[in-house]
Amino acid sequence: MKIFSGIQPSGEIHLGNYLAVIKQWLDLQSKNDCIFCIVDWHAITVPYDPKILQQKIKEVAAIYLTAGLSPKKNIIFTQSAVKEHTELAWLLNTITPIGDLQRMTQFKEKSAKHIKNVCAGLLNYPVLMAADILLYQTEVVPVGQDQKQHVELAREIARRFNARFGDTFTLPQARIMKIGAKIMSLTEPTKKMSKSDKPETCIGLFDTPEQIKKKIASATTDSGQEIKYNPNEKPGISNLLTIHSLLSNKTIKDLENEFTGQNYQTFKQKLAELLIENLEPFRNKKSEFEKNPAIIDKILANGASRAEKIAQETMEKVRLAMGL
Ligand code: AMP
Ligand code: TRP
Repeated sequence: MKIFSGIQPSGEIHLGNYLAVIKQWLDLQSKNDCIFCIVDWHAITVPYDPKILQQKIKEVAAIYLTAGLSPKKNIIFTQSAVKEHTELAWLLNTITPIGDLQRMTQFKEKSAKHIKNVCAGLLNYPVLMAADILLYQTEVVPVGQDQKQHVELAREIARRFNARFGDTFTLPQARIMKIGAKIMSLTEPTKKMSKSDKPETCIGLFDTPEQIKKKIASATTDSGQEIKYNPNEKPGISNLLTIHSLLSNKTIKDLENEFTGQNYQTFKQKLAELLIENLEPFRNKKSEFEKNPAIIDKILANGASRAEKIAQETMEKVRLAMGL
């Protein structure tokens, strides 16, 4: 199957990105044609610092590689290195009703958060995302829960294009994990863990053991002491159980049994140990890549030239279909 997905080089890549998305990519890479993108043009739709953007892009690339994504088997590249993404986004803008964009949940949330800086790019963000996906005739888009609506819109744009200009695009579908599609904030477990929130809400993949211990120890838990999964009544412990289950590959039922009669504190200590062990490769490899940034530049340049070939083929079809 053809797979495409991406992460924005903004903020710090966190446990939610890793558990809900990068882990899916790792499962998919051996049997599929996968493209993993660093979507820098999406990251600039909210205020950002141009001085550190390149460093952020390299950091995301280092995370992809450290997690175990193969740059030979998969195409790994930066969105802005393939200009066809903007060309297709413009063309798709002409068949996308403004109303569809205004009703997107993420647009509503982000425009409320950056109330003084709502640019047209923020509204058109899902059209650029549709272009990312459709350029590569993608069948499956592995993402977290919050991106499902955008993938559905991309499918609708593809369907509309095909109906108007003839069969051109494959209709994509989102792939979302059954558990862990939405990892919650450590301090407010009814809100999703987010890059743009305060550090104590979120575990970063490069966090030190001390930071991990402190953040998990102070994570919000619920009244009572029972280690039971119940997202409505016990959102805090349910989120921590989900994280444990994804890292340890044990079912939530098994974990509930294992921790019967134990208190939150013991469970949190065990979870912190598990996190420290699982994130160790990220901390170690980061400095390796920092010492030799040329490795990453080479991988991204190679990825961009492979991506560009596919993108150019699609654009020829699109221009022909649209009479351009
Ligand atoms: P972003 O961090 O916005 O670039 O998102 C990259 C990917 O991570 C997308 O597929 C999101 O759906 C996913 N994602 C972001 N935050 C979370 C979260 N808290 N839980 C699960 N998935 C998430
Ligand atoms: N909008 C996505 C996010 O914030 C990132 C993204 C951009 C993406 N283009 C994509 C994800 C294409 C999947 C496919 O998470």
